[in-house]
Amino acid sequence: MEQILSLITIFASLVFSGRCSDGYSRNDFPEGFVFGSAISAFQWEGAANEDGRTPSIYDTLVHSSSGPNADIACDGYHKYKEDVRLMYDMGLDAFRFSISWPRLIPNGRGVVNPKGLQFYKSFIDELKRHGIEPHVTLSHNDLPQALEDEYGGWTDHKIIDDFSAFADVCFREFGNVVKFWSTINEPNMLALAGYDLGIVPPAHCSPPFGLVNCSRGNSSTEPYISLHNMLLAHASASRLYKTKYKNKQNGYIGMTCFAFWLVPNTSSEEDQIATQRAKDFFLGWVLHPLFFGDYPDVMKRIVGKRLPSFTEEESRLVKDSSEFLGVIHYTPTCIAHSSSSLHEDYISDMSGLIIPYGNTTLAKLDVLPWGLEGVLEYIKQNYGNPPVYILENGRPSNHDSSLNDVGRVEYLRAYIAAVLNAVRNGSETRGYFQWSFMDLFEVIDINYTYGLYYVNFSDPERERSPKTSALWYSAFLKGTQQEPKNLSVSPSPGFASQ
Ligand SMILES: *[C@@H]1O[C@H](CO)[C@@H](O)[C@H](O)[C@H]1NC(C)=O
Ligand SMILES: *[C@@H]1O[C@H](CO)[C@@H](O)[C@H](O)[C@H]1NC(C)=O
Ligand SMILES: *[C@@H]1O[C@H](CO)[C@@H](O)[C@H](O)[C@H]1NC(C)=O
Ligand SMILES: *[C@@H]1O[C@H](CO)[C@@H](O)[C@H](O)[C@H]1NC(C)=O
Ligand SMILES: *[C@@H]1O[C@H](CO)[C@@H](O)[C@H](O)[C@H]1NC(C)=O
Ligand SMILES: *[C@@H]1O[C@H](CO)[C@@H](O)[C@H](O)[C@H]1NC(C)=O
Ligand SMILES: *[C@@H]1O[C@H](CO)[C@@H](O)[C@H](O)[C@H]1NC(C)=O
Ligand SMILES: *[C@@H]1O[C@H](CO)[C@@H](O)[C@H](O)[C@H]1NC(C)=O
Repeated sequence: MEQILSLITIFASLVFSGRCSDGYSRNDFPEGFVFGSAISAFQWEGAANEDGRTPSIYDTLVHSSSGPNADIACDGYHKYKEDVRLMYDMGLDAFRFSISWPRLIPNGRGVVNPKGLQFYKSFIDELKRHGIEPHVTLSHNDLPQALEDEYGGWTDHKIIDDFSAFADVCFREFGNVVKFWSTINEPNMLALAGYDLGIVPPAHCSPPFGLVNCSRGNSSTEPYISLHNMLLAHASASRLYKTKYKNKQNGYIGMTCFAFWLVPNTSSEEDQIATQRAKDFFLGWVLHPLFFGDYPDVMKRIVGKRLPSFTEEESRLVKDSSEFLGVIHYTPTCIAHSSSSLHEDYISDMSGLIIPYGNTTLAKLDVLPWGLEGVLEYIKQNYGNPPVYILENGRPSNHDSSLNDVGRVEYLRAYIAAVLNAVRNGSETRGYFQWSFMDLFEVIDINYTYGLYYVNFSDPERERSPKTSALWYSAFLKGTQQEPKNLSVSPSPGFASQ
C-alpha cells in the first residue's frame, strides 16, 4: 500500500510542477476567495431508514426499479467525522452539503426529528471545529415523498409554506454557525428534467414528451408551474431569513442556477438567435425573476398562458431575494434552431435543439473551460455582476477505472484558471466548490462518479481512498504543488495494478 501511495506521490510531483506549468496559484485569487468541495445529503448520507428518516422522492425513484439504491450510499451519516478529517487534511476552506428535509422533518411538515437535528448539529460543529465554513443547501432534489403524495410537491402552491417552515427550523437551529444558505439546488434543471423529460425525481412527464414512460405529469405546464413555485418558495424563505435572522446571525442567502454555456451549432443567423433564446429560456428563466422581477419577454410571448405570472407583490419579493448566485456548471452545449412549430412542452417552446459539444456526453466531459468563463462573463454583463459562488464544477470518470485520475486533474486545473480569468476581468465570483468531494451515488449514470476520493461501494466499510486529483487539489490549496501531502488514507489494495 505504501508503495502505491509513494508511486502516486512521485507521479503527482512530476505532474504538479507547481506555479510554472499551472501558471497560477491560489495566492493569485483575491483575499477571502474560498475553495471548497461538495456533496448532497441523498447521495452521501445513506442511513435511509435510520433514526426516523422517511423516504424522499429520490428514494422512491431509485427503489422503483431493481437497480442499485442509496440506502447506504457513502454512509456519511456514520462516517462524517472521518470525512471532516479528510477535508481538513486536504486544506478545504469550505464545504457544501445539503440537509435532508425528510430526515429533519419526517413527512415534510410538523415535528422536528431530534435525531436528525442532532446529526446536522454534530456535523456542522465538526466542520467548524476544523475551521471549515459550511455552505448549506436546503433542498437538493430530495423532497419528502409525503408532500409529493399529499399535493404533488413543487407543483402545488402549498409547498411554499412547507418549505418556509423547513427553512425556519434550519435557520433557527443551525444559523448561529451557518453563514451561507442556498435555498434550492438547480431549479431550472429540476424543472426540465423532473417535470418535462421525467428523468430525475419526481419523474413527471406526459406523452409524447418525456424520455421515459411517465405515469404522472404534464410536460406542457408542470415545468413552468414547479419552477414558479420554487422561485416563490425561495423568495419566501429569503424574506424570512432577512426579517427574522439576518441581523442576529449575519449570514447570506442565495439561489442556485444550473448553467450550461450555450453556443450556436453553426454561425447561421437562425442558430445565433436560437442560442440567445435558449439563454433566456434556460438561464433567464431563473435569473430574470431574481434580478428583474419577471420572466424574459421571449418566454412570456412563446409560452403564453402556460407560464404563471407574478403578482406585483410576488415580483417585488422575488427580485433581489438572492444575495449571491450559486452557479452550477459542467460543460458548454450547442444550440441549433429547430423549425418545429409545435409549442407544447418546455423543449419545443425553446425551439432549440440541444446538441452535445464535440465529444461530450453526460458521463464524459471534455475540458472546455471557456464555457465557465462564458457563464461568469454573461452573468456579470447581463445581471448586474452579483456575488457568485460556483457551487458545482467537476469531471466524471468511470468509477472503477483508476485512482490515477489525471483527466480530472487536467479539468480542475483548467477550470480554476478560467475562474481566475473571470475574476481578473471583474466578475464578482467569490468561491469555487469542486463536485464532488468523494464518489457519490450518481443517478444519471451510476458508473461515472466525480470524487476526489474513491469510495469502494462493495466494501461494507465504504473505505475512502485519495485519487491523484485529491493530492493535486490539496497541493493547490496549500500552495505546495511540489509535494502533495499525506492524505491519511492509503489507496485500496484493489488498485494494485495501477
Ligand atoms: C414506453 O412504452 C411503450 C409501450 O409499452 C414502449 O413501446 C416504449 O418502448 C416505452 N418507452 C420507454 C422510453 O420506455
Ligand atoms: C396539461 O395541462 C393543460 C392545461 O391545463 C391541458 O390543456 C392539457 O390537456 C394537459 N395535458 C395533459 C397530458 O394532461
Ligand atoms: C449542427 O452543425 C453540424 C455542422 O457543424 C451539422 O452537420 C448539423 O446538421 C447541425 N445540426 C443541426 C440539428 O442543425
Ligand atoms: C473528439 O475525439 C476525437 C478522437 O479522440 C478527437 O480527434 C477530436 O479532436 C475530438 N473533438 C473535440 C472537439 O475535442
Ligand atoms: C472583460 O470585461 C469587459 C467589460 O465587461 C468585456 O467587454 C470583455 O468582453 C470581457 N473579456 C472577456 C475575455 O470576457
Ligand atoms: C454499471 O456497471 C455495471 C457493472 O459493470 C453494469 O452492470 C451496469 O449496467 C452499468 N450501469 C450503467 C447505467 O451503465
Ligand atoms: C501518512 O499517514 C499514515 C497513515 O495515517 C501514517 O502512518 C504516516 O506516518 C504518515 N506519513 C507522514 C509522512 O506523515
Ligand atoms: C472493494 O471492497 C471489496 C470488499 O471488501 C474488495 O474485495 C475489493 O478489492 C475492493 N475494491 C477495491 C477497488 O479496492
